[in-house]
Amino acid sequence: MDALELLLNRRSIAKLSAPAPEGKALENIIRAGLRAPDHAGLTPWRFVISQGSGLNKLSDILVKAAVEDKSDDTVIEKVKNAPFRAPMVITVIAKVTEHEKVPAFEQHLSAGCAVQAMQMAAVAQGFQAFWRSGKWMFHPTVHKAFGLEGEDEIVGFLYLGTPGCTPMKVPERDLSKFVEYL
Ligand SMILES: Cc1cc2nc3c(=O)[nH]c(=O)nc-3n(C[C@H](O)[C@H](O)[C@H](O)COP(=O)(O)O)c2cc1C
Repeated sequence: MDALELLLNRRSIAKLSAPAPEGKALENIIRAGLRAPDHAGLTPWRFVISQGSGLNKLSDILVKAAVEDKSDDTVIEKVKNAPFRAPMVITVIAKVTEHEKVPAFEQHLSAGCAVQAMQMAAVAQGFQAFWRSGKWMFHPTVHKAFGLEGEDEIVGFLYLGTPGCTPMKVPERDLSKFVEYL
């Protein structure tokens, strides 16, 4: 797929089926994440892959946090089912190293760039991916389960799989509303 065509036309599809990317395709996705811009070469990324029983583990972690927060049954049911919207979820973590020139903010941004690079690499290979967040990714119990320390953050859950439909059309946007010149 042409790179510019992909950049201009990518859309998310919010429910994905098997197969998830594997082998070389998955490796390409991870390698695309590892090409995120990286100030001072700190490599501030961790990618935790859940599939199969891993999705159950992710579900358990989210449910534990929701129960601790005394969430109602509807919320608990929602978080319980969330990981199963695709056959694979990659939890993307900004692993922050203290550095005098590179604040945590930049390292969080770098991990965010990794998410989009992986999403693009998935689409480029015929898969699909959608990015989800939610308050649970900031929850101390979820942080503990993923071994976060200090200023580390979960920047997103990237759901990956095979689309069952074609993505919606890209919305028309008036460039003049977004672009200014100094
Ligand atoms: C950091 C981040 C977190 C997001 N979290 C959610 C989310 O939790 N739920 C959701 O519906 N969309 C979320 N989105 C937006 C979707 O991933 C998606 O971009 C949006 O639905 C627009 O669709 P499109 O990608 O086809 O333009 C998030 C986007 C970003 C950048």
